[in-house]
Amino acid sequence: MTPDPQTRAAWLAEMSRQDELEDSALTGVNAWYWEAVQPEHQAFVERFLERLPHGGAVLDAACGPGRYFDLVLVSGRSVLGVDHSEIYLAAAKDRHPEVKTERHKLAALPYRAQFDGVMCVDAMEMVPPEEWPLVVERFRQALRPGGWLYLTVELVPPEEISELNKRLLDQALPAVAGEVIWEPEGYYHYYPPLDQVRAWLGDAGFEIIEDVEGPWHEQGYAYHHLLARLTVPG
Ligand SMILES: C[S@@+](CC[C@H](N)C(=O)[O-])C[C@H]1O[C@@H](n2cnc3c(N)ncnc32)[C@H](O)[C@@H]1O
Repeated sequence: MTPDPQTRAAWLAEMSRQDELEDSALTGVNAWYWEAVQPEHQAFVERFLERLPHGGAVLDAACGPGRYFDLVLVSGRSVLGVDHSEIYLAAAKDRHPEVKTERHKLAALPYRAQFDGVMCVDAMEMVPPEEWPLVVERFRQALRPGGWLYLTVELVPPEEISELNKRLLDQALPAVAGEVIWEPEGYYHYYPPLDQVRAWLGDAGFEIIEDVEGPWHEQGYAYHHLLARLTVPG
């Protein structure tokens, strides 16, 4: 059954508030997190950076504590870090006082044709289906013509998503397929079908150049990596 639009909008606003509260209350911006850059993420970030002009500008959207700032800076590009969580931005600033950071939500990124590359790593799972096209549009607008986007999409086995999604529907919450709440933290996540992600990127004028799944981690999740080039003006 399709949820009532007003009830759904109110529920999504509450989910967004919850996720932001969780991200702003984190005490876990700790050492393990810094060390935990996964090899395939690093390899993708490096390949993304290689595509950009030397001296080019990168937007790290949902940068968290800025654990990719070093890679960007060492490659000879500049970086602006953006996140909705003050605590993450403060951690990023602590580690890299020289990097400019700004607080924005992904759906409200204000940039216009300023960047050669936009990266959004391990954050799109917090974006609900209604906002995905808007966020992708914000990435497009932030890029200069011919700019590059590196995006990860979290993957969880479909049967687990269905089971968690059923719990929401059983509580008569106005959720749609792919939406879950992870307990005990209460994080809202949305897992879009990858073909839908490809379509959203295509609709915004991105041509997908690399499209790679995994690897899967023993805890039962993986990331899908997408590297795309903007084929229309930013
Ligand atoms: C798992 S962390 C990843 C951080 C960083 N990209 C990395 O890979 O290390 C997810 C980040 O997304 C941010 N985030 C989640 N939803 C957001 C939104 N709607 N707008 C801006 N930032 C958001 C969180 O505050 C958090 O810093």
